[in-house]
Amino acid sequence: MCRCPSNLVLGLGGMLLVLLSGCNQQSPAVPAYPEMTGEGFKTFAEHCSACHAPPKPTTHTAREWPSVIARMQQHRIQRGLGAMPAADMVKIKDYLLEYARSEDER
Ligand code: HEC
Repeated sequence: MCRCPSNLVLGLGGMLLVLLSGCNQQSPAVPAYPEMTGEGFKTFAEHCSACHAPPKPTTHTAREWPSVIARMQQHRIQRGLGAMPAADMVKIKDYLLEYARSEDER
């Protein structure tokens, strides 16, 4: 015979934990990219998602990004997607450089 409610409390607590962690796994609480509502991200997403998933800004350092962007421009032209306007390339570069991986983390 058990009159203590601790089993119930534990049970509810456990359920709540399961619910909370389940929720954590599903919700996009951590944004995939920084500043997703900004102009820079929008330009980046527009021009960098046609051929592959847009890369994380931390994929490259600020030193590396400009040549990657220039190479992607060539890919666009080769695939007949048309060159990105220079102004958009600047916006994309600014966005990626702002959140680029720092030189000393690898
Ligand atoms: C026309 C298709 C196309 C578009 C649009 C495109 N890419 Fe790529 N991307 C490629 C191809 C093909 C590769 C693999 C060959 C290579 O690395 O050049 C690649 C590879 C990459 C890689 C992995 C290689 C590396 O150097 O790290 C990154 C990062 C990347 N692209 C970033 C971008 C960014 C940023 C943009 C937008 C400015 C973009 N891509 C737009 C075709 C494209």
